[in-house]
Amino acid sequence: MSAPPLDQARPYMTALADELAAAGAIRTGPWAAAFGHVPRHLFVPRWFAPETDHKGITVWREHHGAATADALAAVYRDQTLVTALDPDTAEQVDDTAWTGIPTSSSTLPSLMAGMLEDLSVEDGHRVLEIGTGTGYNAALLSARLGGHLVHSVDIDPALVDQAQRALSSVGFTPQLTTGDGTRTSSPVGRFDRIIATCSVPSIPAAWIEQSRPGTILVADVALGIEGGLVRLEVDARGRALGRFTTNAGRFMAARGEARTYPAPQRPERAAETGTRPSTVTADDIRGNYAFRLLLALRLPKAETVYHVDDAGAMSLQIQTADGSWARTPLAGQRSETVTYGGEAELWATVEDTWRWWNDAARPTHDSFGYAREAAGHAYVWHLPDGTRWNLPTT
Ligand SMILES: C[S@@+](CC[C@H](N)C(=O)[O-])C[C@H]1O[C@@H](n2cnc3c(N)ncnc32)[C@H](O)[C@@H]1O
Repeated sequence: MSAPPLDQARPYMTALADELAAAGAIRTGPWAAAFGHVPRHLFVPRWFAPETDHKGITVWREHHGAATADALAAVYRDQTLVTALDPDTAEQVDDTAWTGIPTSSSTLPSLMAGMLEDLSVEDGHRVLEIGTGTGYNAALLSARLGGHLVHSVDIDPALVDQAQRALSSVGFTPQLTTGDGTRTSSPVGRFDRIIATCSVPSIPAAWIEQSRPGTILVADVALGIEGGLVRLEVDARGRALGRFTTNAGRFMAARGEARTYPAPQRPERAAETGTRPSTVTADDIRGNYAFRLLLALRLPKAETVYHVDDAGAMSLQIQTADGSWARTPLAGQRSETVTYGGEAELWATVEDTWRWWNDAARPTHDSFGYAREAAGHAYVWHLPDGTRWNLPTT
């Protein structure tokens, strides 16, 4: 299926750039020009849109960007477009739909624009991107800086291949490589700016090695419960220091395999120990991003899942790799209780964090600083009063 001519797409490209500027995601002329110039549909000839089937399961419906004017319009909406599914989890449910875990996407344009603005590039800067994906972001960087200053790496060789073809078709020639961008250092030296479009639990040493004093890193630091975008500046001692940004987008995790994520380890859960009143409800956790982020920083080894009991009632459960868990119902009379098993401190930390966050007048996520010391350990602190939490070294 051939792509629609550029002339047909041009009004959509302009409209997207205008929309992102009106929303405040694009803040400067050069990025407005780049978004108005790069044809997203050539980087996303095919994507999967989420649908919920009759059992409440998410299925991914295949779409083609060239098929209809509606499909072309869809590519230029401010939405994430999933472009690859993990073959180990993808199961075809009908002619054009699959279940499965996404392994690549063209990121939400407003999030891309916000991150590119936060990167504060200037003419002549060399930029490294981790997570080439479709190549659309590499194309925007190339439009802004010139392809010779852009280097992008993805772990999946098939994606790098497709991105390379799409980039060449619009005349961009950034340097693309295949590999684990969290481990390998690029052979081409140091960069002025590093942007990661896959999340990491901590800033990898490889990124510091590829920085120079003054390099700015923009990345999603994701722990089990939540994650957030940080903007850090590397200093002469190899320390990366900065804060969570006002953007609040999330990215798929960096992985070690080209096309699949490892199956999650689910340890045996500890036996139920009791139920007691709780000062924190599931709504408190679900409805407050900054609190969830803080909780993730306080409980970096924990994750949240939904638990359904035999009667079909749903709870929000926090669990850790040692088998401990604590859950609180999503609704109903018992929504101010917690039931738990294993380490009792788990929920005590949730309640302590809730108390701290409320006492501190519910600070937003961008009120927290983030630092990675040259030796690798990282910490987060509340900028107004310096309260600090150390993060585990990963
Ligand atoms: C959200 S997509 C990137 C979107 C991309 N920047 C674009 O404009 O289309 C995340 C990408 O990170 C890649 N990725 C995951 N783990 C990686 C790793 N360890 N090193 C490099 N790339 C990785 C995935 O294959 C995926 O293509």
